[in-house]
Amino acid sequence: MKIDIILGLQWGDEGKGKIVDVLTPKYDIIARFQGGPNAGHTLEFNGQKHILHTIPSGIFHSNTINIIGNGVIIDPFILSIEISKLKESNINPYKNLLISKKAHLILPSHRMLDATYENAKGKAKIGSTLKGIGPTYSDKVSRSGLRIGDISSKLFFEKYKKLKQKHFQIIDSYDFNINNHLLDGLSFEQYEEKWFDALKSIKEIEFIDSEYYINECLNQNKRILAEGAQGTLLDIDFGSYPFVTSSNTVCSAVCSGLGVAPTKIGNIFGVFKAYCTRVGGGPFPTELNNHDGDTLRLKGHEFGSTTGRPRRCGWLDIPALKYSIMLNGVTHLIMTKADVLNEFDYFNVCPKYKHNNQETEHIPFEFTDESLSPVFLKFKGWKSNISMLTSFENIPEELLNYIRYITKATNIPISIISVGPDRKQTLYKNMLGL
Ligand code: GDP
Ligand code: IMO
Ligand code: MG
Repeated sequence: MKIDIILGLQWGDEGKGKIVDVLTPKYDIIARFQGGPNAGHTLEFNGQKHILHTIPSGIFHSNTINIIGNGVIIDPFILSIEISKLKESNINPYKNLLISKKAHLILPSHRMLDATYENAKGKAKIGSTLKGIGPTYSDKVSRSGLRIGDISSKLFFEKYKKLKQKHFQIIDSYDFNINNHLLDGLSFEQYEEKWFDALKSIKEIEFIDSEYYINECLNQNKRILAEGAQGTLLDIDFGSYPFVTSSNTVCSAVCSGLGVAPTKIGNIFGVFKAYCTRVGGGPFPTELNNHDGDTLRLKGHEFGSTTGRPRRCGWLDIPALKYSIMLNGVTHLIMTKADVLNEFDYFNVCPKYKHNNQETEHIPFEFTDESLSPVFLKFKGWKSNISMLTSFENIPEELLNYIRYITKATNIPISIISVGPDRKQTLYKNMLGL
């Protein structure tokens, strides 16, 4: 059996959480493989909205095992809040959640360090979610991080103190006053206390050697879906560096983030919005700083699931989409939020850019808004409410036209169209027996 993957093809928030939830009944296991609580994955059903940050989006299906893989970084404080919220909704994640012993821990001082670095960047700041992502992955790579499997070690507190001390040396060298920066509304000391409390409570979750577990499950023909966080254009290598996150978000990260071989990868589902959004700094060629951009934000409720920040909005960027498809080897496309375009008389798509007065489909190394301008192609809108549709057959001609255009431009079939945030607002086509 092979492992399927769901990935975001833009700058995150493509609707991955909703799609994972919708596909979960087809799988035995859902596994996160990278990123941390910078992610915010929204699920909606039975009139309720749930936002997950660390826990995989299969958690609402009690027969499905959910794994937080070794490539994920975990803040116990945030994870314990997620667990409490699930319990309020009568979900007991202790039953079907497993964590890799090799997943790294986000310390309170990693979060403070994140704030220190962002503050020092001034106007050039990344727009980080300030969850400690960059500093934690830096410590992982520099071989000084702490892992979930270390929690039960007698030396844990000693190691914690040493790492915290190192962080504070850096924070002090920047003259950053930690008293001026709250962590989720708490002082450093308050947060640290709650962090240690949370550490105790997450010990109730089973910690596993997830690479063995996952490979054994594949050998037993169990079906596994890997759930990506962020999006390809935020990838540390291929995204709009330095305005990126600190993990590889592309398909290959499944191999290192779960311990599966490339030969074990099956379907690769690429999720994209019918338009584009971005939260935080960095280039965004098709960004709309006008009425259309405001309409997309309003109709699409484009405000960050993790930070509440307004998302920047723009038209669909085909060169960027093709780049993501190339890097990931996408086998099926999934288009979300098509309903957000319901009321537009006309909308645009960017089939290519202008770079140094030449037309190009390539994203250049110098990827800035100044170096690239979008060329736009106009599409007629469908001017009707598609959020009530129940099958592909009833899709309006103008939307079909848009789908055909994207399929031709990318050479990849669109297998699912999402027409609203709810589980039920999902139209399927060509799902290879899934
Ligand atoms: P993720 O990070 O990729 O899981 O996406 P987010 O949850 O951060 O953001 C997607 C937002 O769009 C959430 O508020 C979803 O409830 C919502 N959403 C997902 N699919 C659709 C859709 O097809 N139509 C509309 N209107 N909203 C959607
Ligand atoms: P999901 O999984 C959208 C963005 C941040 C910032 C940059 C670096 O919900 O799609 P970081 O916190 O990693 O240091 O931030 O990346 N970012 C996201 N944008 N969706 C996400 O995750 C994101 N995770 C990080 O806004 O620009
Ligand atoms: Mg999100």
